[in-house]
Amino acid sequence: MFLGEYQLNNIYNVDCALGMQKIPNNSIDLIVTSPPYDDLRDYNGYKFNFERIAEEIYRIMKLGGVVVWVVGDKIKNGNKSLTSFRQAIHFQEIGFNVHDTMIYKKKNTPFMRSNAYTNCFEYMFVFSKGKPNTFNPLKTGTVRQGVEKLVSNKKADGINKKILGELKSEKTLTNIWSYAVGLGGTTKDKIAFQHSAIFPEKLAQDHILSWSNEGDIVFDPMCGSGTTCKMARLNNRLYLGMEISDVYANLAKKRVELLDGQLF
Ligand SMILES: C[S@@+](CC[C@H](N)C(=O)[O-])C[C@H]1O[C@@H](n2cnc3c(N)ncnc32)[C@H](O)[C@@H]1O
Repeated sequence: MFLGEYQLNNIYNVDCALGMQKIPNNSIDLIVTSPPYDDLRDYNGYKFNFERIAEEIYRIMKLGGVVVWVVGDKIKNGNKSLTSFRQAIHFQEIGFNVHDTMIYKKKNTPFMRSNAYTNCFEYMFVFSKGKPNTFNPLKTGTVRQGVEKLVSNKKADGINKKILGELKSEKTLTNIWSYAVGLGGTTKDKIAFQHSAIFPEKLAQDHILSWSNEGDIVFDPMCGSGTTCKMARLNNRLYLGMEISDVYANLAKKRVELLDGQLF
């Protein structure tokens, strides 16, 4: 299956600012991606043209499509860059709704600072082009279940009548998601760690399940080691990946091939 010139379920070694120009308007259901964080890491010296990339992303998203933008800030001379916020505001200015500002909390290896609290999270901005087409809320079990006298059942007359009520066995997750990171947490794929900045497979999967349905097109314009592509494949979505570094593009392809080897 093709999308413009691109074969779906494939990863391309290209600068996404150029590569996206060949994707038709209004054609992508979901993006789950993570850009380079300021100049924290030098991805083989590649340049990152944020404004151009944001503009192309807006053009290629379907109405109701969702973009998950996972990003953190660098600290220079004790001063946080706030690039993440600047990017979020830019996305809003070019037409996206800032649907949510979610938090990716790291259960381990937080970043210690001698004169500030330990940093243990990054942002997961959720942008939507109009109202999201899909929301499949992820659930978690509640602590108390079954039937019990509800604590408060105040009616319009102001009288607090205690009545028996069924407690729900599950509830929708909050917008702070916690993940273990490192080998076994982020992923069990050892080869993925040839990339220095991967996000957890479960993070990608949780967003894919939340904001898309089977058969939808999930795109990662800066796919690094291919985490989003792998999890889209595993969850029966069509995927498309772009990556500017040939080393990482090959790594991502190999990683998805490994999964295909296990599936078929
Ligand atoms: C934070 S990493 C993404 C990691 C990925 N989420 C994963 O789990 O492996 C950002 C990636 O963007 C790539 N990149 C930077 N500029 C790019 C561009 N203009 N087009 C495509 N990829 C780019 C970098 O080479 C790097 O691999």
